[in-house]
Amino acid sequence: MEKFYITTAIDYVNGAPHIGHAYEKILTDVIYRHFTQRCDNTFFLTGTDEHGIKIQKTSAAQGMTPKELCDMNANKFQDAWKRLGVDYTKFIRTTDDYHEKAVQKIFDKLLKKGDIYKHSYTGLYCSGCEAFLSEKDLTEDGLCPDHQKKPEVVEEENYFFRLTKYKDAIIRHIKTHPDFIVPSFRANEVLNQLENIEDISVSRTTANVSWGVPVLGDPEQSIYVWIDALSNYITALGYDTEADTETYKQFWPATVHVIGKDILKFHSIYWPAILMALDLPLPEHILAHGWITIDQTKMSKSLGNVISPESIMQAFNLEIPDPLRYYMASAAPCGKDGNYSDEDFKEKVNAHLANSMGNLLNRTLSMLVKYFDGDVKPEFRGKSGGKSELFDKALETVKEVKHHFDYFEVQEAAQKIVELVDITNKYVTDNAPWTLAKEGQMDKCGEVLTTVLEIMCVIASLIYPYCPNIAKSMAEQLSYDLSTKLDDITCDNIKAGHLIDKENIKPVFLRMDSELADKSKKD
Ligand code: ME8
Ligand code: MG
Repeated sequence: MEKFYITTAIDYVNGAPHIGHAYEKILTDVIYRHFTQRCDNTFFLTGTDEHGIKIQKTSAAQGMTPKELCDMNANKFQDAWKRLGVDYTKFIRTTDDYHEKAVQKIFDKLLKKGDIYKHSYTGLYCSGCEAFLSEKDLTEDGLCPDHQKKPEVVEEENYFFRLTKYKDAIIRHIKTHPDFIVPSFRANEVLNQLENIEDISVSRTTANVSWGVPVLGDPEQSIYVWIDALSNYITALGYDTEADTETYKQFWPATVHVIGKDILKFHSIYWPAILMALDLPLPEHILAHGWITIDQTKMSKSLGNVISPESIMQAFNLEIPDPLRYYMASAAPCGKDGNYSDEDFKEKVNAHLANSMGNLLNRTLSMLVKYFDGDVKPEFRGKSGGKSELFDKALETVKEVKHHFDYFEVQEAAQKIVELVDITNKYVTDNAPWTLAKEGQMDKCGEVLTTVLEIMCVIASLIYPYCPNIAKSMAEQLSYDLSTKLDDITCDNIKAGHLIDKENIKPVFLRMDSELADKSKKD
């Protein structure tokens, strides 16, 4: 793989980050970290979407200028991602000066090309969606189905983008690239939407929407938020229609845009059309993830069940984000909805990370110290000379995990890792190294322990994208080089010699305290 460029949706800054936003960023970070284990040339972009009527209204209601609101909330997003270990390469804000200038140039280029034209229009605008809706998009009561709000009737002279000009090319692209939209079951929805598309309004009058990027040479019009927002994926790399930067040349087209299913239309119809109009190549994949619900209910401000990632971190007194990352990243099969509940979170991470994985390493290292003073002896390679069915299984798991990530199946990949942990636990039970020690079969006992430690190195590498801190702590105790690329993984990492002292053995993850967890429910 020559390069890997992954992006998230950029979040509206009219509020603070919640766990739906966190889910997407964690999912993306896990995919990103996995691919850093396969490729040296990677770029991970995230950021915030800061213009539009929604931000304008929210800031006014809070007695702030739009820019003050944006600064305040953009900081909250950055802090949250830092706390969750979201290791982005770049954070773009659509109010960044370079971005605004590039968006103006992009708009101007499309205007000069004739793909943007001026037109008077009456439409129904939903500020929640930041989009015009058609009558048939609405519920029986005339509400936006996503936001349960009546759209505003807008009568304006706007600029329009010739979306219809690109309709056939987009249909062709989707049909000839079955892996363009992931999961593929969503491609049909998009093809249906494409049947009825019309040209779209791509500006608003400054009189109605003042918080936006002005059209070059026509300051009465501000550029529609979605043109502004979607362009972030190229402007962040330095694209501004003229001097393409090295970074742009190196990374565009994107490998994958990770987004929620609610904004698939913008990414699989509008964005490809804009790129075609700019004569730029299309991204390879668009991964549309599902919703995170709370206790099986949709999160919404009106229901008052919006949870922030920080509140979970605090409720469970978490020092590292790994358990939340692990839980979120494996919350749903690719593209499907997933649920968060305190109870399930606690149970799952205690079972998988503490009881199975953490305990396995801890027990094995403790036995190595107890029976061998922490030394690995050359004889431990045994009669097999370091061959083991378990090693074959581990290397096969590496392949399977890679395969799942090729399809962005993050939950499915996690299941394979858990399976390997379970098989290794069974191997320990079946071979009972404590019995071997009691019977004085020391070389055999050493071989069993070394075999398990070898597998733990592989597991450290595989769990790293989900749990980078736990993986680091595992690797330290195993003297394993965590920067090993997945293709270079072997089951020959544990060298003869002294491995560890008793005082250096520490649990990589402690069970989440049940009292604390109970307390969090009451708060
Ligand atoms: O749509 N579960 O911003 P946004 C999972 N600015 N994902 C969720 C979610 C939930 N409960 N709630 C929101 C926008 N998301 C635009 C994007 S991209 C060029 C511009 C996801 O703040 C949502 O699907 O409304 C989207 O991918 C992201 O969070 C930001 O949503
Ligand atoms: Mg939204």
